[in-house]
Amino acid sequence: MELRSFGANKSRVPVIGQGTWNIDNGDREAAIAALRVGLDLGMTHIDTAEMYGDAEEMIAEAIAGRRNEVFLVSKVLPQNASRSGTIAACERSLARLQTDWLDCYLLHWRGEYPLEETIEAFRRLQSDGKIRSWGVSNFDVPDLAEARDIAGAGALACNQVLYHLEQRAIEHAVLPWCEKHGVPVVGYSPFGHGRFPGSHTSAGRVLQEIAARHNATPRQVALRFLVRRPSLFTIPKSSRPEHAAENAQAGDLYLSEAELASIDESFPRGPRPCELPVL
Ligand SMILES: NC(=O)c1ccc[n+]([C@@H]2O[C@H](COP(=O)([O-])OP(=O)(O)OC[C@H]3O[C@@H](n4cnc5c(N)ncnc54)[C@H](OP(=O)(O)O)[C@@H]3O)[C@@H](O)[C@H]2O)c1
Repeated sequence: MELRSFGANKSRVPVIGQGTWNIDNGDREAAIAALRVGLDLGMTHIDTAEMYGDAEEMIAEAIAGRRNEVFLVSKVLPQNASRSGTIAACERSLARLQTDWLDCYLLHWRGEYPLEETIEAFRRLQSDGKIRSWGVSNFDVPDLAEARDIAGAGALACNQVLYHLEQRAIEHAVLPWCEKHGVPVVGYSPFGHGRFPGSHTSAGRVLQEIAARHNATPRQVALRFLVRRPSLFTIPKSSRPEHAAENAQAGDLYLSEAELASIDESFPRGPRPCELPVL
């Protein structure tokens, strides 16, 4: 699994991690087994949120006895992101996750509370040793610039945003801004939240052809495309051990420039959006 430097702490984080939204909506044991298989195969970046139902409790079970292997990320909901609310939300997440610290804590999306308040709480949590870094999610350029103005250069550990083959809007402005300011970009919903392009489409067939050349799968090719730049990370969610294993193996796949160009052409990045969707 390829590792990259992440945030001001320069933590070494795998390019492919594990999402956990909806892992509590099916076979609980299989989902916990999938997280463990993912960890075994190097997908040690585990992404969760206070919003994700029982996911934090399930992660606690999956990582029991192996906390030090994990780069654990959770998120505060915007409606909780006041100065005191952020601290209380973090403490609830720590309790559910049965850990003393988060490797990174994110504001899930921009809400009504002034960013100064949330950032002040993040700093307090950091100085208390409850979080090692903090970042944001679903931030567009004006919000990113505001966060940087408040917190200073190098403070933001990442921006976690929607990014998959059929949704490349971040490439217009968010990704360039993050690259210019050294902020890692964690792409979420890399499989389109379950709507992955199939072989009945010409673009899906391009993925298949490239995959066949590498003895890989179209999903592995997609994941690799989504981390083709040094600033990019991705966090597919899987509740099945065999899916987790397939996803992790993309961490060792290398695509040629010509193959990347052909995927780029098959899945055009589309028009510049007004703003990112908030999920
Ligand atoms: N910050 C935010 O606002 C935000 C928003 C959305 C998501 N996220 C994060 O990003 C993570 C990933 O996004 P997502 O959950 O929306 O969707 P996703 O990862 O794009 O897709 C998940 C779907 O793909 C399936 N899948 C995964 N690996 C597969 C494989 N190898 N073969 C076939 N199917 C496979 C899963 O099925 P199985 O479960 O059956 O394996 C599930 O149905 C989330 O879990 C969450 O942690 C963050």
